[in-house]
This record gives sequence, structure tokens and C-alpha cells, in this order.
Amino acid sequence: MSEAIKPAEQRPEHPDFWCKRFGEGVTPWDAGKVPDAFADFIARQPAPLKTLIPGCGSAWEAVHLAELGWPATALDFSPAAIETARKILGNAPVDLLCADFFTFFPARPVELIYERAFLCALPRKLWADWGRRVAELLQPGGRLAGFFFLCDQPKGPPFGILPGQLAELLASNFELIEDAAVDDSIPVFAGRERWQVWQRR
Ligand SMILES: C[S@@+](CC[C@H](N)C(=O)[O-])C[C@H]1O[C@@H](n2cnc3c(N)ncnc32)[C@H](O)[C@@H]1O
Repeated sequence: MSEAIKPAEQRPEHPDFWCKRFGEGVTPWDAGKVPDAFADFIARQPAPLKTLIPGCGSAWEAVHLAELGWPATALDFSPAAIETARKILGNAPVDLLCADFFTFFPARPVELIYERAFLCALPRKLWADWGRRVAELLQPGGRLAGFFFLCDQPKGPPFGILPGQLAELLASNFELIEDAAVDDSIPVFAGRERWQVWQRR
């Protein structure tokens, strides 16, 4: 079946794809916890950063940020994901937005973009737009930090990206300042994800 006539719930660039999975409770990417490298990175920062979590899903990390008094915006274009996040967030003071990452207008400047299982949820045709968008959202000195699914896996999601392909998307606007193995991955990503921090030039 060609891309053009596939139903929306079979196209990951469409919210219905994700709504179906959240609705059925089939979310194998969901860690159900705050990953260690993220918690460690946050603990190392001298002051809270205005943080954006695009494609937040359940938004576990937003709860962590709110507990530490960080200003966090968690964004997802799937209403079902937002409903799930709302339950997990409870009363945590997080801006929860149902919006498309590529078109939303941020209410405040963004100092940190947290990446987990968002880029690998996007079909390849959207990668260049993702690279442009993260650069556009961050001022010089701002950081893109998180987990990158670095492997040769063309069928997805999750869609794997090779280190050279990721560098192609980011290197003209960012410098890679942290790159480390991950030891608390969930099975879908185990052995194939790395913690990286890219700083906006
Ligand atoms: C694989 S899930 C990851 C969720 C979460 N980051 C996590 O680690 O559990 C990908 C999420 O990205 C969201 N998403 C995909 N494309 C999006 C877009 N253009 N704008 C906003 N959210 C998007 C989906 O709705 C889905 O909740």
C-alpha cells in the first residue's frame, strides 16, 4: 500500500497512529521511570533551565523537573498521550500542550530540549525539519540533551539513525559536548541508544 493511501493510524507522522497505541495500552517505548543519565544531567546543572519535552508521551521526566522546581513544557500532538501525561503529572506544575512540534509557538524561550524516543518516532522524511526546528527553538548556548537511537534500523518506529546521519542534521548548528553509553535502557533500545548533549552555537 502506498504512503498516500495508508490510514492515519498506520502513519507515525499522524497523531492517530499514537492515539491508537496509547488507547490500546501498547507503549513498548515507555520507560515508566526517569532514565538515570537524564536525572544525573539535571542534577549537574547549576540552575533550573526552561525545558521543552517534545513528543512527551507519558511525561515521566516532566514530573521529575517539576519536583525540582524547573519550568517545563511537555508537548505532544496526540490527545491520548496528553490524557496519559495528565494522569501521571497530577498536580505537578508543568505546561502540558497538545500541539505539533513543527508548528507550535513557544510561550517562553527554550534553554533545554530533552530528547527521548521522539526523533526515532519520526519518519525519515521529517528528520531535516526536526534538525532545523531544534536549532530554531534554541538560542546560542542552549542545549539539546537526551537519548538517541543510533543504529541501522530503517523500519520503524523506532527508526534508527546512524551517528553520521545525526551529525548531518545537527553539526552545522550544534557542537556535541557529551556522548556516553546508557546502562538502564528498556529492551526496545538496549545496546543501541546513547546519551548525548548538543550545544547550540
Ligand atoms: C515513541 S513516543 C515517545 C514518548 C516519550 N518521549 C517517551 O520517551 O516515552 C513518541 C511520541 O511523540 C509524539 N509525536 C510524534 N510526532 C509528533 C509531533 N510532530 N509533534 C508532537 N508530538 C509528536 C507521539 O504522539 C508520541 O507520544
